[in-house]
Amino acid sequence: MQEKIKALCQKFTTQLSLIKNLQELEHLKVEFFGKKGIFQDLLLFLRTLPLSQRASLGREINQLKEELLQLYQQAFIGFGQAELSLSIAHEKIDATLPGRRLFMGRKHPLGKLKDEVISIFSSLGFSVQYSPDVDSDWYNYESLNFPPDHPAREMQDTFYIDATLLLRSHTSNAQIRVMERTTPPVRVIVPGTVYRNENISARSHVFFHQVEGFYVDQKVSLADLLDTMRTFWCRLLGKQIKMRFRPSYFPFVEPGLEIDISCAQCEGKGCSLCKENGWLEVAGAGMIHPEVLKNGGVDPELYSGYAWGLGLERLAMLLYGIDDIRLFSQNDLRFLSQF
Ligand code: PHE
Repeated sequence: MQEKIKALCQKFTTQLSLIKNLQELEHLKVEFFGKKGIFQDLLLFLRTLPLSQRASLGREINQLKEELLQLYQQAFIGFGQAELSLSIAHEKIDATLPGRRLFMGRKHPLGKLKDEVISIFSSLGFSVQYSPDVDSDWYNYESLNFPPDHPAREMQDTFYIDATLLLRSHTSNAQIRVMERTTPPVRVIVPGTVYRNENISARSHVFFHQVEGFYVDQKVSLADLLDTMRTFWCRLLGKQIKMRFRPSYFPFVEPGLEIDISCAQCEGKGCSLCKENGWLEVAGAGMIHPEVLKNGGVDPELYSGYAWGLGLERLAMLLYGIDDIRLFSQNDLRFLSQF
């Protein structure tokens, strides 16, 4: 047996001396120390010997295994380092190359605009509140004076979830909710996403963003609405603008208005942005209908209120000369990085 052990040691060292790379070294490792390797065979053989011989021979075999493993380790480190320096030598580092540019994330143009709108109205005493995207027919339509088969419902083609639940078609769904939880004076703005079942085109999309605003207090008048709107538009555009109102119809306001401002680009002279008529349509507005106040638990004999709703995409398109609403949701960096 001693002979055999000696021969084994000899075999290992000769084979090790012939090895040229890490791969060959790994083969040697498997051959000697692997699950079906030489040392495993030796241990199996050991079990066949009488107990008296097993202990001392076992010790010898283990000692040899330790020694050979150490030789293997040294060789492994040697080959590893050699291969590493070889790969570094082959690597071509050009220290004169300019660094890689890191792209910083930034706010979406609509988010930026929303922040500006919020900051202006906050300075005018409005607080920000939210209403749910998925809401009931009651808050989105019925409480706002849209009876079940009112044709105005068709103006805002709706995504229904079931008979009573829908995706809100405007942020006006906040009006009753806010009135229910607050006693006047109520002065809030409500930014949010709205959804309409429309064909997607350059001008319309199935979702877009609005900022609703309303004020309920004693003696709130149309003049207050006009003044707040004018202040807002002048601040947002950073210059004096002209504003005009046209009568319009929304079931939840009376009177209902469409607000136009003088074209921010040509100042009313006529250009491609305002389609040569000098005015830009920027919001729907009006005095809150007494029935709506009642539905919100507010006494129309004591209180009155105004409301408006403006579309953020439309506003951004006017301000930045964007001609396709789809650009806002396509996540194209060529578009987004311009803002
Ligand atoms: N909710 C209306 C729309 O989406 C806008 C609006 C809000 C009109 C408040 C009047 C008052 O078109």
